[in-house]
Amino acid sequence: MKSCWLCLLYVFGLWARRGAALSTPCQLRETNYGSVCVCNSSYCDYLDQPILSDNTQIVVISSSKNGLRFKQANASFLDKGALEVQDHQWIDENFVADSIIVEQDKAWLQFANVPQRFAFNVSIKTVQLTVKRELRYQKITNFGGAFTGSVSHILKQLPIDLQDHLYRSYFHADGIGYNSIRMSIGASDFDLQPWAYNELPRNDPSLSNFTTLDSRDLQKIEQLKRLKAVAQLNDLKIMAAAWSAPTWMKSNERWTGFGQLKSEYYQAWADYHLKFLELMQSKNMPVWAISTGNEPLNGVIGFIFIHFMSMGWTPWQQAIWLGDYLGPTIKKSNQSHVLIFGNDDQRYTYPSWFRKMRASRSNALDYLDGLAVHWYWDEIFGPKLIDDAHTEMPNKLLLNTESCIGDKPWQTHGPELGNWGRGESYMRAYIQDLLHNFNGWLDWNLVLDEQGGPNYVHNYVDAPVIVNTTSRTEFYKQPMYYAIGHFSKFLPEQSVRIEARTNETESFAQLSAVGFQRPDGSVALILYNGENLPVNVALNDSQRGAFNLRLPARSWHTVVYK
Ligand SMILES: *[C@@H]1O[C@H](CO)[C@@H](O)[C@H](O)[C@H]1NC(C)=O
Ligand SMILES: *[C@@H]1O[C@H](CO)[C@@H](O)[C@H](O)[C@H]1NC(C)=O
Ligand SMILES: *[C@@H]1O[C@H](CO)[C@@H](O)[C@H](O)[C@H]1NC(C)=O
Ligand SMILES: *[C@@H]1O[C@H](CO)[C@@H](O)[C@H](O)[C@H]1NC(C)=O
Ligand SMILES: *[C@@H]1O[C@H](CO)[C@@H](O)[C@H](O)[C@H]1NC(C)=O
Ligand SMILES: *[C@@H]1O[C@H](CO)[C@@H](O)[C@H](O)[C@H]1NC(C)=O
Ligand SMILES: *[C@@H]1O[C@H](CO)[C@@H](O)[C@H](O)[C@H]1NC(C)=O
Ligand SMILES: *[C@@H]1O[C@H](CO)[C@@H](O)[C@H](O)[C@H]1NC(C)=O
Repeated sequence: MKSCWLCLLYVFGLWARRGAALSTPCQLRETNYGSVCVCNSSYCDYLDQPILSDNTQIVVISSSKNGLRFKQANASFLDKGALEVQDHQWIDENFVADSIIVEQDKAWLQFANVPQRFAFNVSIKTVQLTVKRELRYQKITNFGGAFTGSVSHILKQLPIDLQDHLYRSYFHADGIGYNSIRMSIGASDFDLQPWAYNELPRNDPSLSNFTTLDSRDLQKIEQLKRLKAVAQLNDLKIMAAAWSAPTWMKSNERWTGFGQLKSEYYQAWADYHLKFLELMQSKNMPVWAISTGNEPLNGVIGFIFIHFMSMGWTPWQQAIWLGDYLGPTIKKSNQSHVLIFGNDDQRYTYPSWFRKMRASRSNALDYLDGLAVHWYWDEIFGPKLIDDAHTEMPNKLLLNTESCIGDKPWQTHGPELGNWGRGESYMRAYIQDLLHNFNGWLDWNLVLDEQGGPNYVHNYVDAPVIVNTTSRTEFYKQPMYYAIGHFSKFLPEQSVRIEARTNETESFAQLSAVGFQRPDGSVALILYNGENLPVNVALNDSQRGAFNLRLPARSWHTVVYK
């Protein structure tokens, strides 16, 4: 017994759970664009899942531009009962309200250096937040990020303890509780070079040389096994997508550019997907879902800007492939449990992509279990496009399957360490999608290097965790990591969205909110204050009663109660 406990300690290092309260705070470091939390082999920040002792307890976990990262505060609905909304003056340093004051000092600190004569009275706005758990919407399936070739490559250079902190930070309940990854079938641009299975022999529809996985897959599988052990995660939902077929299957016989699948290889391309699923299963790493292919429009129009692996589909062609080849091939196989997601491209292709598919093959959409969306242009194209698709296909899952910052011409193509604004973009995006029936979100690379790579076509971008590949002794958790974590950590699978509505109109909102009831019955509300002023929140839950909060400027919160 004793020796087994020791071996567990060995596997899980210093952090073996002994009861609760092993939370460790963020080691905040000032960086060029704000602050990051620093992790090394012997230290990383974690937060135990809050345990609610009774129906009166309320727990607020907060992150803010001024330096809070998952800071926990506790109070009770009984403290003052149903409370009056506070509306105190901005300069009132002695404000001690009958409410939780998260980071009161920091909120005032912003103006602490301003001479008194410049001080002005800003009345802090109060927003009503009404929670009705009897009004229920979609369920959460999964949150995660992509385990690309680049991620795998970076991780294998790190000391094992640091790798473990990364896995634990993302996938353990004490980290941000991810339960899912996305991976490419073959390579994506976040690889050291383009590759696919059965590149040789050419013109071989029987895929005679696709009998094993690639060595790069085997490395990922070893890493994923470690990840699951460290994170104590049994059910890792793996979502897979192909960027391109081997070049001989394509009209242009190249990895990128204007190129589509040759029609004589439609069955071979379906078999290729099945082969991958079978080989993954044989390695005890079964795949949960596939998509019909990453960003199909890149190989039709996007190739003008995009120079990485892609394969073009029009919706009409893809419907034929899905309806006549991929769908039947998967459903008739022993991989029929694998879900199929459609589109896997930008929001602006919704819902017309699916209407065109239906026009080409009326049965094709029946093979789709879900709809996959990429986030990149969401700030320009509103959620109505998604609402329309959801109305037409209400029983299909909705997942965001890719997001990162740094791809636009006006953005830094790479990490901006500590940038709170990039975290806020994620915060707004996750709230918006969750308010529009999304079941989960898969972010892009879990980690990247200081440059935002490696990427074989120099398509550098940001990621929620950046590894110091110079020293190989540290990684940096960006504000984006905490933005995602305010959702993923507190919304386990099967959480149901409930009504949580503010009395602000959406276009002038200081406070954004989305609410869930979790499988254990407790409520988790995610709140976002995007203004440079604190805000008072008058929470009223139809079952639990009323409670007041004052939240600091530029901050995010998850409020948990029974
Ligand atoms: C790791 O981080 C902790 C906390 O910041 C620090 O005390 C310790 O010295 C660091 N270890 C190394 C080897 O830098
Ligand atoms: C909140 O309550 C939990 C569990 O009762 C406790 O572990 C934690 O220390 C408390 N946190 C604060 C900030 O009081
Ligand atoms: C702010 O409001 C308080 C209370 O109403 C008042 O006493 C004070 O003079 C005001 N300060 C300024 C700078 O207007
Ligand atoms: C099978 O693929 C490997 C590369 O993965 C290649 O070296 C080999 O030549 C291929 N075999 C045939 C018969 O083409
Ligand atoms: C699934 O089917 C494939 C091919 O038909 C076969 O090789 C494989 O052994 C089967 N796997 C299981 C788990 O039944
Ligand atoms: C990475 O570590 C090296 C060596 O400690 C240090 O000089 C460098 O500033 C670090 N990089 C970042 C982005 O912090
Ligand atoms: C929302 O409610 C608060 C508190 O009752 C009130 O002060 C505020 O004016 C309301 N906002 C709107 C837009 O009605
Ligand atoms: C909370 O809402 C209920 C209705 O659900 C209402 O009766 C009650 O007055 C509200 N409490 C506060 C403090 O606004």
